[in-house]
Amino acid sequence: MASQRSAYYEADGADRATRRANRTSAADVPRKPQPRAFEADPGAGRVRRLRVDAHRATTRVLRVAYPFLAEGGLGADGTYIGSDVFSGGSFVYDPWVLYQGRAITNPNILLAGVIGSGKSSTAKALLTRSIALGHKAYVPCDPKGEWTSVAAAVGGATIKLGPGLPTRLNPLDAGRRPSAVDADEWARIVWSRRRALLGTLAESTLGRPLAAVEHTALDLALETVTSQVESPTIPDVVVALFTPDSAWAGRAGLKTTDLTDDGRSVAHAIRRLVHGDLSGMFDGPSTTEFDPTLPMVTLDSSWLGSGGNDEALRLTLACASSWLEAAVADPSGGNRYIVYDEGWRVMRDAALLRRMQEQWKLSRAWGVSNILIVHRLSDLAAVGDLGSEARALAEGLLADCSTRIMLRQEPDQLSRTASLLGLTDVEIATIAKLPKGRALWRLPNRSFVVQLVRHAREVELFDTDARM
Ligand SMILES: Nc1ncnc2c1ncn2[C@@H]1O[C@H](COP(=O)(O)OP(=O)(O)OP(=O)(O)O)[C@@H](O)[C@H]1O
Ligand SMILES: [Mg+2]
Repeated sequence: MASQRSAYYEADGADRATRRANRTSAADVPRKPQPRAFEADPGAGRVRRLRVDAHRATTRVLRVAYPFLAEGGLGADGTYIGSDVFSGGSFVYDPWVLYQGRAITNPNILLAGVIGSGKSSTAKALLTRSIALGHKAYVPCDPKGEWTSVAAAVGGATIKLGPGLPTRLNPLDAGRRPSAVDADEWARIVWSRRRALLGTLAESTLGRPLAAVEHTALDLALETVTSQVESPTIPDVVVALFTPDSAWAGRAGLKTTDLTDDGRSVAHAIRRLVHGDLSGMFDGPSTTEFDPTLPMVTLDSSWLGSGGNDEALRLTLACASSWLEAAVADPSGGNRYIVYDEGWRVMRDAALLRRMQEQWKLSRAWGVSNILIVHRLSDLAAVGDLGSEARALAEGLLADCSTRIMLRQEPDQLSRTASLLGLTDVEIATIAKLPKGRALWRLPNRSFVVQLVRHAREVELFDTDARM
């Protein structure tokens, strides 16, 4: 139901009986003397301005009676998603267009829904259709390997990573220098990206923040290898941590033996990528190049094994996203989506969340829209106890997503969803009953219920039931 009080233009022959039937009771609306609906019209055929009583009607009636007053969607500039269930019109969406129009405060998207509700299909439709607009898409987190066929269909590429597979990525690759960045600044950017990644890997494996002395050991190890080789690898850093260079230690006023002790835990933590279960994936020069001109690049991590190996998945994501960052950080590279499918599996440790948050803060400067896919909003709370850093970081990611696409939620999730997103009772009742592929698109101050419309080819391409 919706209410209207408006002045509108009405041609002769308006149906007074319908208006009377739609009026609310006298108790609801104070009656004022109304102008006569039809006045003697000296200039026959002219359209005259009339006033209508305040009244209520269903959206079904309103969209016909007031076609120009119905919520007009988000404009016509963007990617077609499907039909707006209430207005019946087409629903199009483009985070960059909306950001420019100040309809949203950042281009990031959170997509949530129960298992099999159509989360991945919605993201796949948005991304593949956006390619026609010149946008590109990277999927660094695809633990089910379901984006491989999608990338192939749009002329993109997939990098398959896993123990025993021939592909190897060097996460310390410098990447291509953007034309707008000079050599000195680029050296600083590359150094800090490498340093951030090594810190994340160490903290993630150790399960705790690094101590001050460990930071120093890592800094000096990275400085040593950067001064020795042009393209350092993780094994180079591990060697420099186990056997620090005396000249670099001396420059920092430290004894080599102390530095060896300080960096021992970090060295063992990072060594996991060289000799542990992740060996062969990130421990040497890259065997493939990232082609930033491709419309879609996905990283298939299904070879890591499904189930409990989320830690390996997190380390892989940290390495792969650092490697991707080299391409993504070029602001002249156009608009790009970065998708974290099954994102809840990687949101477990503070180190990775901190990195994700830093990347997301830069999304506007880089022209990047991050899409985080989770089952429910309580996945964000499950990363840590109330008051913990991980919990604050995960909930910060939600705040950094101006667009929230909610597919069906379980009944026990509804009240938390409502309070986190500030939903109305009507919106909550809607989410509880959404059929497959239908979602509540919630933007600041506006929301739409949208049915994803798929082409027969997309139905086949996006199908994930085949394995069943
Ligand atoms: N609009 C739709 N209408 C009918 N079926 C759909 C629609 N959208 C998706 N599906 C089908 O539902 C199945 C599950 O979709 P999808 O993989 O997108 O769900 P999901 O929420 O990502 O699942 P999961 O939680 O397992 O990752 C797919 O086989 C897909 O073809
Ligand atoms: Mg999915």
